[in-house]
Amino acid sequence: MDHFSVVQSIIRSGLAGDQKAFDKQVQRLLTRLEKEGEDKEAATIRRLLSSASETKELTPSKVEVSRSMVVGETLTSDTIPPIDRETGAQLCTVEFPGAMQTAPIYEKDVKDTIDGLLDEWRHPEALRCVDVEPTRSLLIFGPPGSGKTMTAYHIAQNLGLPLIMARIDGLISSFLGTTARNIANLFEFANRYACVLLLDEFDALAKQRDDPQEIGEIKRVVNTLLQNLDLRRDHGVTIAITNHDRLLDPAIWRRFETHVHIGEPNMEAVTSLVKRFLLPIAPDNGTVSIIAYCLRGRSGADLQRVCTSIKRTLALSGSEHNGPGIFQALSTVLARLPEHDHAPAKLLAHDPDAFVSMITNDSQIAISQQDIAAATGMSKSKISELKKSQRHLPLVEASNAK
Ligand SMILES: Nc1ncnc2c1ncn2[C@@H]1O[C@H](COP(=O)(O)OP(=O)(O)O)[C@@H](O)[C@H]1O
Ligand SMILES: [Mg+2]
Repeated sequence: MDHFSVVQSIIRSGLAGDQKAFDKQVQRLLTRLEKEGEDKEAATIRRLLSSASETKELTPSKVEVSRSMVVGETLTSDTIPPIDRETGAQLCTVEFPGAMQTAPIYEKDVKDTIDGLLDEWRHPEALRCVDVEPTRSLLIFGPPGSGKTMTAYHIAQNLGLPLIMARIDGLISSFLGTTARNIANLFEFANRYACVLLLDEFDALAKQRDDPQEIGEIKRVVNTLLQNLDLRRDHGVTIAITNHDRLLDPAIWRRFETHVHIGEPNMEAVTSLVKRFLLPIAPDNGTVSIIAYCLRGRSGADLQRVCTSIKRTLALSGSEHNGPGIFQALSTVLARLPEHDHAPAKLLAHDPDAFVSMITNDSQIAISQQDIAAATGMSKSKISELKKSQRHLPLVEASNAK
């Protein structure tokens, strides 16, 4: 095998976790490939490097949390979490989110809010000049799979604090009054340690008090929650998450200083997510645009699932890891997914020619015929024929009429 010695060095430095040596050896391999005219291979390596660096750039440096602002004992893996006295179920788990490598990918507004919040913790002295403190309470809401839980981990990791994650199944008890007592015990535990308290699936606890079904107990639970949120104001950081913001009691909203809606990713975010989830495959931009076009409107978690399926299908098909191989794998994966309403995905699943007719006629996807040819493996003459045919129109109209 050509270049085996360099590959060996790359593996060695990778295993040793030596980033500098790794970069140097990869550069050595690139130079050799270029020298020998292996342009395609060199281009693939360059794309891999740039996808990886895009992802890395999204990880901001860790914030040194001022210890005077988050006081409390230090949590360790030996700290025993509180339990429900009747059932013995744990009220929370303790996590140390140090190992997560990558930051979530958001559209600009969400990114600005989260980065801004971390910035506040980076510069508390600037805030103190105007007599305010960094944000301590955050309510995140939005559809499932959009990266809300991941965001809580990201914040805790950047603040260098452990995460106390409430366990809804442990907190909610069928015994009258026990849920409220469990909540009080959970907050007491969280206030004792320097931590981020995460209340995921928050609506299960913070439902509107006027729900006619369970009125007495819910009132008691929400009131306990409100009291404890007030008492926690000067302690660590509190993050609540919900998929059902409309169910939340209005008084709960006011207890959180910042509200962030993480919705479906926009096109730019879908493109970055697709690039990340396809790694170590680094397709050309045309292929990424086609995948993003088919998956518009899906959540980050969905995108990850589809990209993983594309990689599995591609690996087993024996096809090359290039545009046409990925295009074929994408079509296979989309055909296997449960029926979807999104027209481009439907077309590509059942009639790739009609799909190409669609993208050549849609000004929203800025992709040249040359890039479509590279991404699909079709000849340029076939592509211009498909463009003229408008073959997708009857299919789109039929599906709109349904
Ligand atoms: N915005 C995003 N950026 C990066 N990865 C994401 C994003 N949204 C979802 N994911 C992927 O999907 C997984 C599930 O997301 P999660 O945070 O549990 O969603 P939610 O809590 O909103 O339901 C994440 O672990 C991550 O791999
Ligand atoms: Mg979640």
